[in-house]
Amino acid sequence: MEDKLKINLGLEGTYFSKSEICKIDGINGKLYYFGYSIEDLTDKSNFEEVSYLLMNGHLPNRKKLSDFSHQMAELRDIDNNVINFIKRMVGKSHPMHILSTAMDMVGSYDKKAESDNELNKTKAINIISKVSSITAAIGSLSTNGEYTNPDASISHIENFLYMFNGIKPNMEAAKLMDTMFILHAEHGSNASTFSSIVTASTLSDINSAIVSGINTLKGPLHGGADERALRMLYGIKEKPVQQYINKVLENNGRIMGFGHRIYKTYDPRARIIKTMLKSLLPNANDEVKILADTAFNVEKEMETRMKDRHIYPNMDFFSGQVYRYLGIPIEMFTPIFAASRSPGWCSHILEYWKNNRLIRPLFYYTGKVDLPYKRIGDR
Ligand code: SDX
Repeated sequence: MEDKLKINLGLEGTYFSKSEICKIDGINGKLYYFGYSIEDLTDKSNFEEVSYLLMNGHLPNRKKLSDFSHQMAELRDIDNNVINFIKRMVGKSHPMHILSTAMDMVGSYDKKAESDNELNKTKAINIISKVSSITAAIGSLSTNGEYTNPDASISHIENFLYMFNGIKPNMEAAKLMDTMFILHAEHGSNASTFSSIVTASTLSDINSAIVSGINTLKGPLHGGADERALRMLYGIKEKPVQQYINKVLENNGRIMGFGHRIYKTYDPRARIIKTMLKSLLPNANDEVKILADTAFNVEKEMETRMKDRHIYPNMDFFSGQVYRYLGIPIEMFTPIFAASRSPGWCSHILEYWKNNRLIRPLFYYTGKVDLPYKRIGDR
């Protein structure tokens, strides 16, 4: 039996369900949400329209988009208990822990947890709206101790930046953050989406499934890489790049922001962010310029060493520099990733529920059986 056994560690290369939501072409470096390329969506769409697309499987007409945006805008308010919880926790816990608990509080107020699909769609829209408001509140309370009430009259992203900074954003900042949200919105069966689906497959509620996703995203091999990649760049800036990379690779470590389970070429999202970063540099401060310069040197060095091993920059490698250009603190990078990914998580949960099957894989048991139980005095 054992010689015929095929164990896919980490479920690598394993299909567990069908989906129409996201196509990732890891060989040619292409990414599609319901058939629309990430290049077209970042160039021509916005996060509210992409959230509608992910929730409905098609692009909206003007009226449908306006109704959807209005519905999201009406759900931005945060319960006072959640605000008070955030106020107590900022500075004591990592923002990802605060976000996870705050979103669990949102779910705990939901008296109709188990529900039918239509209600779940409303819950999903509530989640997409709330997770952005709560992330912005955590960012604001941890940087200047202020909480800014949401403004339902502006766009999702403008409101996010308004709640984060306490002032209305300029066009450039809103466009940059909107593009970052679209790039992070969806990416197939990544670990945090899979984790959300595992929770949903038990018919637990959609809020709890999202909390699973947030806690899974936190890991440095996944969403937490954006924070670590920037810390790496801060760490390198005084030292020669080769020396740093040598040390990491000699200890079989990982260069944060590089490599991907699916992309064996340049991550198309990294390409878009790098182009955006280059366009910002003429107006950037010295901090961002030095970080970008270090990043380009790391990329050059990694290209020399890793090209034939198909290890390229992924989305997390350049994102931190754009966030720093927008004045975002490093600990808020991954919560922003979670706020951006919420429509992707919700879309997959609702799709999987249409043909739900409890997810319950197997361990191949290699231990013993029928051991004699000895009393403690005889051991
Ligand atoms: C995200 O899945 C998704 O879609 C995720 C994501 C999304 O949008 O949801 O795209 C977001 O999580 C992007 C990835 C962010 N993580 C990082 O940047 C962390 C650093 N990257 C690595 O840990 C790694 O590349 C992973 C985890 C991303 C992917 O790893 P795999 O597929 O499990 O590959 P592996 O760790 O088995 O490595 C295979 C080989 C190894 O060499 P050998 O042991 O076979 O000799 O490639 C090497 C690794 O040493 N390698 C690296 C490397 N990544 C892989 N070597 C140095 N630095 C790296 N970053």
